[in-house]
Amino acid sequence: MTRTALVTGGASGIGLATVRRLLDDGWTVVAADRDPVALAGLPVDDRIVAAEVDVTDERQVEDVVARADQLGTGLGAVVTCAGLARNAPALDVDVADLRMTIEVNLVGTFLACRAAARRMLDRGHGGSLVTISSVSGLRGGAHRAAYAASKGAVLALTRVLAVELGPAGIRVNRVAPGATETPAIAAAQPPHVRRVVIDAIPLARYAQPSETAAVIAFLAGPESAFVTGQTWGVDGGQMAGPGWRMPEEGR
Ligand SMILES: NC(=O)c1ccc[n+]([C@@H]2O[C@H](COP(=O)([O-])OP(=O)(O)OC[C@H]3O[C@@H](n4cnc5c(N)ncnc54)[C@H](O)[C@@H]3O)[C@@H](O)[C@H]2O)c1
Repeated sequence: MTRTALVTGGASGIGLATVRRLLDDGWTVVAADRDPVALAGLPVDDRIVAAEVDVTDERQVEDVVARADQLGTGLGAVVTCAGLARNAPALDVDVADLRMTIEVNLVGTFLACRAAARRMLDRGHGGSLVTISSVSGLRGGAHRAAYAASKGAVLALTRVLAVELGPAGIRVNRVAPGATETPAIAAAQPPHVRRVVIDAIPLARYAQPSETAAVIAFLAGPESAFVTGQTWGVDGGQMAGPGWRMPEEGR
C-alpha cells in the first residue's frame, strides 16, 4: 500500500513535474486540475488519478480530498500548485482580475489545505502540506500587485497553518519558485522580458519544473520530518540579489 498525495494544478508546469516526481518517489498521486485537456495528457499509470477540479469550488475540493484519502494508506501530502497571474501596473489592475487571482491563489490554497488537514487529523497519522508561492510574494515587483498580494498571503497562511497543525504532526511549508520554464511563463513573457529576468538571476537561467518538483517532493516526504513553517526558495539565487526593473511587460 502506498501513500497518496494530492497535487492541485497537477496537469501542467510545476504541478505536472511534481506529479511525475512523486510517482517516482513511490506515491499514489491524484492530479487535480480544472483543465480537462491537460488532464488527458497525464502519464498513463495505475498510480495516477486525474480529477477535474476547480480549486475555488469548496465542494469540489472536499470531494477530491476525500477521494484521495480513500486511496492506498490515505492522504499523506497535498501540494497546491494551482495558480494564475494577471500582471498589470497597479493603477491599471482590473478588480475582477484581482478578485480572481486572490480566489485561485489564496482561497484555492486555503480550501485544499483545510480539507486535507481535517482528513489528516481524523486519521491521526500526520501529513505534509506544501503551498506554492513565488518570489513575488516575498518582495515588491512591478506589475505584480494582484499576484504578489495573493502569494504574500499564502506565506502568512502557511505560517499560521504550521503553528496550528504542528502539534498534530502535520507539517506545512511553502515553496517560492523564481522564474521557471512552464507553459504559463512561455505564454506570458516575450524575449525582452526573459532577458531582464535572467539578468537578475545569479544562476543566469530559468528553472526547469523538475528542479522545483525535487524540493517539493523533499518537503512532502519523510526526509523533511522536522521542517515546518518554512519558505524554500527555488529561484537560482534571485532573492539574494536586487531583483529587476521591468520595462514594458504588458499583461
Ligand atoms: N512558472 C513560474 O515561473 C512560476 C514562478 C513562481 C511561482 N509559480 C507558481 O507555481 C504554480 C504553478 O505555475 P506554473 O507555471 O506551473 O503554471 P501552469 O499554468 O503551467 O500550471 C498551473 C495549473 O493550474 C491550473 N489551474 C489554474 N486555475 C485553477 C483552478 N481554479 N482550479 C484548478 N486548477 C487550476 C491550470 O489549469 C494549470 O494546469 C502557480 O501557483 C504559480 O503562481 C510559477
